[in-house]
Amino acid sequence: MEYADLLIENHGKVAVIRLNRPKAMNALNDNMMNELGDALYKFDADPSVNVIVLTGSEKVFAAGADIAAMANYTYADTYPGNYIGRNWEHILNVRKPVIGVVAGYALGGGCELAMMCDFLIAADSAKFGQPEIKVGVTPGAGGTQRLPRTIGKAKAMDMLLTSRMIDAAEAERTGLVSRIFPADKLMEEALAVANTIAEMPVSVAMAIKDSVNRAFETTLTEGVRYERRFFHAAFGTPAQKEGMSAFLAKRKANFEGM
Ligand code: CAA
Repeated sequence: MEYADLLIENHGKVAVIRLNRPKAMNALNDNMMNELGDALYKFDADPSVNVIVLTGSEKVFAAGADIAAMANYTYADTYPGNYIGRNWEHILNVRKPVIGVVAGYALGGGCELAMMCDFLIAADSAKFGQPEIKVGVTPGAGGTQRLPRTIGKAKAMDMLLTSRMIDAAEAERTGLVSRIFPADKLMEEALAVANTIAEMPVSVAMAIKDSVNRAFETTLTEGVRYERRFFHAAFGTPAQKEGMSAFLAKRKANFEGM
């Protein structure tokens, strides 16, 4: 897979997508978002891939939407043209786990794209922020919605209104990222986490992801009911038979193709 604004790496069952517009701090433009959608859908459909990692460079995950590209946009370009909606949210349709791996800046749309991943692993160099207010706009890819749900209203309002960046330690403390690693070990450690998941039954990983995401869209009772359907259905799958018989036989389960 060859792209102008992405680099692709294969690590066994883990596919790595790297945002790659180094001259523009990985600013997110139409081409990159179209390519990202294409790569995500291809890996989601590829039976040899169980987990997708989305990352940037050592310096920057992404510094936001491409300000040079959108500076002269008119209302016609944005609302009728469905700016953001037309190609930024493909990631939300991906059924396999997507881990966001962030070093350096994840700002504006970059922070919003990161928050669309299933969870985030950060380098100690990571910096997260929603500085849209400084360029005269609100966030447009979910920043005002996902940030308060993730780190709470007070921290979210502070970041969104002042444009203050938070560092990796604060991001971990507030629940925005799940783990922090030293920058020079980031990819090695993130791939180890991704490989742990890739060895699990992918069908169960997909069901867990689906159920967790449902928690943000429905009531507790309905969410638990949703989870229970997957739990009951699991008893009709090879993954449950293999997982439980391997446990009882005191051997490592082999979830290949499950
Ligand atoms: N769009 C377009 N180009 C960008 C960019 C962006 N979001 N961020 C950085 N660049 C470009 C710079 O213009 C510069 O280009 P030139 O070399 O051609 O001048 C290059 O990347 C390097 O950037 P800096 O010289 O600014 O690098 P720095 O190390 O001094 O600062 C930074 C890094 C703190 C990330 C700074 O570039 C910055 O603040 N970027 C903008 C962040 C921002 O405002 N993001 C929100 C955008 S709006 C948005 O995202 C809307 C939405 O919600 C969907």
